[in-house]
Amino acid sequence: MSKDKVYIFDTTLRDGEQVPGCKLNTEEKLDLALKLEGLGVDIIEAGFPISSPGDFESVSQIAKHIKKATVCGLSRAVQKDIETAAQALKHAARPRIHTGIGTSDYHIKSKFNSTREEILQRAVQCVKWARNFTGDVEFYAEDAGRTDNDYLAAVIEAVIKAGATVVNIPDTTGYCLPYQYGEKIAYLVNNVPNIDKAVISCHCHNDLGLATANSITGVIAGARQIECTINGLGERAGNTSLEEVVMIIRQHKHLGFHTDIKTEQLNPISRLVSDTMRMPVQPNKAIVGSNAFSHSSGIHQDGFLKNALTYEIINPEEVGADSSKIVLTARSGRSALAYRFQKLGFRFDRNDIDELYINFLAVADKKKEVEDADLADMAQQYRKKTVTA
Ligand code: KIV
Ligand code: ZN
Repeated sequence: MSKDKVYIFDTTLRDGEQVPGCKLNTEEKLDLALKLEGLGVDIIEAGFPISSPGDFESVSQIAKHIKKATVCGLSRAVQKDIETAAQALKHAARPRIHTGIGTSDYHIKSKFNSTREEILQRAVQCVKWARNFTGDVEFYAEDAGRTDNDYLAAVIEAVIKAGATVVNIPDTTGYCLPYQYGEKIAYLVNNVPNIDKAVISCHCHNDLGLATANSITGVIAGARQIECTINGLGERAGNTSLEEVVMIIRQHKHLGFHTDIKTEQLNPISRLVSDTMRMPVQPNKAIVGSNAFSHSSGIHQDGFLKNALTYEIINPEEVGADSSKIVLTARSGRSALAYRFQKLGFRFDRNDIDELYINFLAVADKKKEVEDADLADMAQQYRKKTVTA
């Protein structure tokens, strides 16, 4: 295992699919799984096999067809869940069972009416059950974000001893601040004696809009796997967005990490997931939103047209997006107007543009966006006026 590689664990088909309205059938899930493998994700969490016969079938089909990526099935710390996940994964080239239990006092007391000691025993037991079926067992400490660090460290040490090869530290409720999540990971690195025997994984939710920041901080503190979804889909406010963490790692090379994601596929797969799950992407979404490479204010447009790097840190081609757009609104300036006329084949000098700009603003104040057809009209009327004058 290379020290600086960050493993990308995609859970679009499990945590992402839990979103109301995003349910997929087996054919859709298999198609997306093949695309995710092509994108270069390391692990595909294919579903929760015990949850329904349909999901069992989806995980089985994905397990049969995916050859390069690890295929993972979720389970609770329940023997039947684990056996069912193992059954669904039996044809996988690289099967992983993801099992675990809530470790925060909220979960221990309210959900399980139990004690810390009993939950620790159940955690160990579920890892042992899973190890009967595969050597690749990931343990999740649900609500680790709000779990006491000393207790969390004891659970993690015990599950690694029981055979867990990956330990997932979910901020299930999206509660942590980045420095707190980073300190939690660092605490485990420094206080769990056998931590070098497992990969630490970040699974962050976005309830406070901090999922991406928390995952990156977790990696800086010692984690080497990020659990994420395309377009940040997932329970409630969603999960860490795959495209964001991948591009942060790529943009900030000085951090010394890399992933194996083929970034030019990010926009196409974002659109595919959005269409298949019938879940639109917000226009201002980083990397994959329709406005991610649009420039509309005059100051930005002027700078961008002189040198794209003044206002763009990513080349749209690098993430498979359409080329950058100069959008014309009432906030746009003369350089943008001249540029758009030129793209339509109209060449005007500075004086012409000064005059046309007055007409342009009159139209722009009435419309949200000035389109090519408006510009063609403006250009023709201006030509007529100047020929007859
Ligand atoms: O958010 C969470 O804690 C989860 C676990 C099941 C990994 O999704
Ligand atoms: Zn989750």
